[in-house]
Amino acid sequence: MTAAENAAEIEALVAAHRPERESLIPILQDVQRELGYLSEGTVTELSRLMGISANEIYGVATFYTRFRFTPPGEHTIRVCLGTACHVRGGRQVLGEFESQLGIKVGQTTNDGKFELERVYCLGCCALAPVGVVDDKVNARMAPKKIRHLLTKYGKRDREEDAQTQ
Ligand code: FES
Repeated sequence: MTAAENAAEIEALVAAHRPERESLIPILQDVQRELGYLSEGTVTELSRLMGISANEIYGVATFYTRFRFTPPGEHTIRVCLGTACHVRGGRQVLGEFESQLGIKVGQTTNDGKFELERVYCLGCCALAPVGVVDDKVNARMAPKKIRHLLTKYGKRDREEDAQTQ
């Protein structure tokens, strides 16, 4: 999508709401749903259209964890740290994902392939510890299973990367 198309889409989404400050959150929700995330350019455009400073928009948006400011990864990994998963090693599983992906919770890998999230109970505690990739639940996760799982979803090892260069 070009910048002009982006701007036109944002304008249309804003126009669907009443031109009031109270509309900011529903507008942010609509924009994120359509564009995937709130880029700096998107926030600037919203600021211009709504007459609200970009700082104020960031102030509101960062208050809610549902808003994101970086593009979503191709695959979303959610590691559960609810009580059942936590006591069965969920934190070690999360740590291993962070280590192998080279990112922290809330971040996306540089190649855009994976984003990592932490959740608190997915409702399948009997399978703890649980890690979900996209919509696929992986039961009884363990640090040693992670390399295989990531490879399955397209993570290339550094050695493979080096061979193709
Ligand atoms: S605590 Fe992890 S699924 Fe319930």
